[in-house]
Amino acid sequence: MKQQTIASCGSLRGEITVPGDKSISHRSIMLGSLASGTTLVHGFLEGEDSLATLQAFRTMRISIEELGDGQLRIEGRGLHGLQEPGDVIDCGNSGTTMRLMLGLLSGQSFFSVLSGDQYLRRRPMKRVVGPLGTMGARIWGRCDGERAPLAIQGGPLQAASYDSPIASAQVKSALMLAGLYAEGETTVREPHLSRDHSERMLSYFGADVRPFDGGVTIVGGPDLTGQEVYVPGDISSAAFFMVAALITPGSELLIRNVGVNPTRSGIIDILRQMGGSIELVDTRERSGEPVADLLVRSSTLQGIEIGGALVPRAIDEFPVVSVAACFAEGTTVIRDAHELRVKETDRIAAMCDALNAVGGQVEPREDGMTICGIDQLNGGRVTSCGDHRIAMSMAVAALRSSKPITISDTGCTETSFPGFWQLLESLAR
Ligand code: S3P
Repeated sequence: MKQQTIASCGSLRGEITVPGDKSISHRSIMLGSLASGTTLVHGFLEGEDSLATLQAFRTMRISIEELGDGQLRIEGRGLHGLQEPGDVIDCGNSGTTMRLMLGLLSGQSFFSVLSGDQYLRRRPMKRVVGPLGTMGARIWGRCDGERAPLAIQGGPLQAASYDSPIASAQVKSALMLAGLYAEGETTVREPHLSRDHSERMLSYFGADVRPFDGGVTIVGGPDLTGQEVYVPGDISSAAFFMVAALITPGSELLIRNVGVNPTRSGIIDILRQMGGSIELVDTRERSGEPVADLLVRSSTLQGIEIGGALVPRAIDEFPVVSVAACFAEGTTVIRDAHELRVKETDRIAAMCDALNAVGGQVEPREDGMTICGIDQLNGGRVTSCGDHRIAMSMAVAALRSSKPITISDTGCTETSFPGFWQLLESLAR
């Protein structure tokens, strides 16, 4: 098993870019495959998660050429052009691949099976399988459809109107993708707005998507047309370097070409509320998504309270927010974040254990955590629990520890951020 030892360093200065947005990369493959004609993708994330989606569509006979440097050429075959996969589709560690494909595969005229790694096979799937069932989807899985492997007998679907109890882009997107195959309008409402990349990309490809306050409606049977997609840098990956620069004295870091979609930019709001200096430079739009360069300067941080609608806007960033909070003056409380319990691992338990093992003062809550700010951590040994964001968050924590932190099980960072350790090392020299 791989491990990494990270020590504190001098200031972080210079310019970096981070790999392509994971959510947008998945969707570019899916919509490129379901569109008619060629889709060119630039900046695709060549990480294990999005490559699992790429591989899945190849097994359904979609031609996807990797042109190097994150460029792809996808020869889409239209909404009904996929062919039955001859084997189980391996989604690896990727919840997005599995949940979105459940929706999409429900409307096909063939049988398919989805599975994944030991972590993904433990994650809840009924949140998608249940509402898809009301559209007529036929899906079987372990624990009455809660856990993968999941078998899908595709067939005709009926449009539906669903009130989701959770703000989840994976649930919303699975239903929207199924809605492409249903006659009429499919509507999903959610308690707070989750990331809207599916809405944006579906309209960019020509679908009739109607967002409204509290939800979205999609009209079935569109003609999707191949497009050119520019995938911006992933704000969830940039977040590690944002916090690293904020907590390391004397730092000034420019992170170029980061997606700043308002449904994802909660991390900027949180860190600014804590007193962090983050400037958006040259905000522009590329293939339907807002993009900017982020200028981050080291800052004295204050503890704050985080909850409500801000939570889904920063859902993947709470591990690294808890690291920022460790070095803030006063107490930070994160609430309304139950969803962290069912991510790649239980991120509340994993971050509390890891930070406390190196001298942090963090208390778990059922729906979040309470973090007491201190000046420095002590260093020591922690595990990532096989979760990429825990591994990278603890690497950031090590930058303000009196002794190094050794993180075990670090191979998982390949899922979302290939090159993370090299980039950190090049800056922290
Ligand atoms: C994602 C949605 C979020 C997020 C995940 C990616 C997506 O999950 O945590 O990393 O691409 O739709 P939920 O929908 O479960 O909140």
